[in-house]
Amino acid sequence: MTIKAGGELVYDYTRMLSGAVSSKHGFTNAELKWFDKTAAAGASRVFNDHTDGNLPFMDLPAKIGEARKILAYADAKAPLFENFVVLGIGGSALGAIMLQTALRPAFYNLLPNSKRGNRPRLFVEDNVDPDRIADLLDVLDARKTLFCVVTKSGGTAETMSAFLVARDLVARRVGAKKVREHFVAITDAAKGNLRKIADAESLDDFIVPDGVGGRFSVLTPVGLLPAAMAGIDILALLRGAARMKKRCLSATMTQNPALMAAALQYMACTYKEKTIQVMMPYSHSLRDVADWYRQLWAESLGKKMDLDGNTVHAGQTPIKALGATDQHSQVQLYNEGPNDKTFTFLRVNAFHNTLRIPPAYKNIDALAYLGNRTMEELINAECLATEMAVTLNQRPNSCVILPQVNEDSLGQLLFMFEMQTAFAGALFNVNAFDQPGVEQGKIATYALMGRPGFEKEAEYIARFNKRLKARTV
Ligand code: PA5
Repeated sequence: MTIKAGGELVYDYTRMLSGAVSSKHGFTNAELKWFDKTAAAGASRVFNDHTDGNLPFMDLPAKIGEARKILAYADAKAPLFENFVVLGIGGSALGAIMLQTALRPAFYNLLPNSKRGNRPRLFVEDNVDPDRIADLLDVLDARKTLFCVVTKSGGTAETMSAFLVARDLVARRVGAKKVREHFVAITDAAKGNLRKIADAESLDDFIVPDGVGGRFSVLTPVGLLPAAMAGIDILALLRGAARMKKRCLSATMTQNPALMAAALQYMACTYKEKTIQVMMPYSHSLRDVADWYRQLWAESLGKKMDLDGNTVHAGQTPIKALGATDQHSQVQLYNEGPNDKTFTFLRVNAFHNTLRIPPAYKNIDALAYLGNRTMEELINAECLATEMAVTLNQRPNSCVILPQVNEDSLGQLLFMFEMQTAFAGALFNVNAFDQPGVEQGKIATYALMGRPGFEKEAEYIARFNKRLKARTV
């Protein structure tokens, strides 16, 4: 059973149903029918929220004017720099990483300038590991590097500390007066310390639109500027997203792939004890889609309180895997371990290269059969084989099928997942757009690092730790 719209991205949910994986683990037609009204009500809540002006991420596919400004900036800056380095974390980094992995050649940064279309190399630094940062700064020529500091709040310790290190490097290598030429800020229009700095030092800047949280910001300058710097066609990305948006405006599950996927995951988690969702792309270039989705699904739905003030500890744990690589690492567990997971496979119909396998060793049957087949056939056969194996083991699974990995299909895919997450938020009855648990961690970091204003939290942590009796071996 598939949902299809003329050669577009397809969501195949046949194997989420009882006919494939039994009625204990999959859904009968009667169960789907029974859930129709609930799904429609959840979708209507999302649509009404959007009409009330609360979900601006849904308007992003139409922001062509903003995208053109980003393109113009990227086209002007690209010839001036060899490196473009994003400093950000979480939703301020994962979108850029995903777009680069999906839409640039696998070894883009190793290509000579001419093969990169004279665009800069793209690095995304999203951790504060001192060794990794030091290693990165070692390979960059500061004179030829444009740093892009991305933080919506403007205060995240990881991002701002990386900014301070990079700023110091540029000041030492290029000169304090030239620092501003090597930084562009992406932050809130009015609030936060990066906004203050950008205004005071006249840094080039782009704005994270009001009401768009980090994990929904890939179609804002947060994702689009790094993508445009690396020569990705961001207008095609938006066009793909806009087409998917149209498909997601129906309140009928069988007409809306995002709503169907949200409903099936919600039902699997709530009624069939599938508290884990594994996303497994069979395409190396979609590897980081699973990483980006992991944050989207986890941070949006993992909530202590529901919208009525009840303590619910909601959420479904997302796991990322990679086909075919992880067939030799996790699939043993997936097939024979606890039946507590759903699987979402990502499959690609046509790769950019088919890569014929040369025939050889004709006398060895176990090798000869590979000759004259293609790597494309092999990876897709492996995907179908894993789908079949988990199905035979009664593990509910679905597959998103992309015609090809390009800007258009990726725009469709990521917008589908954003809408799916919004619908799932409505079904779980949680606020999918806040992240109090993340803020808690940020506050504890500020306290431990001695940020003024967080003295009480620092005292509390010290008292708490004193009470604990350390046990180590
Ligand atoms: O999705 C989110 O809101 C978070 O993951 C943030 O993106 C992350 O915490 C970084 O926040 P900021 O952009 O404010 O530095």
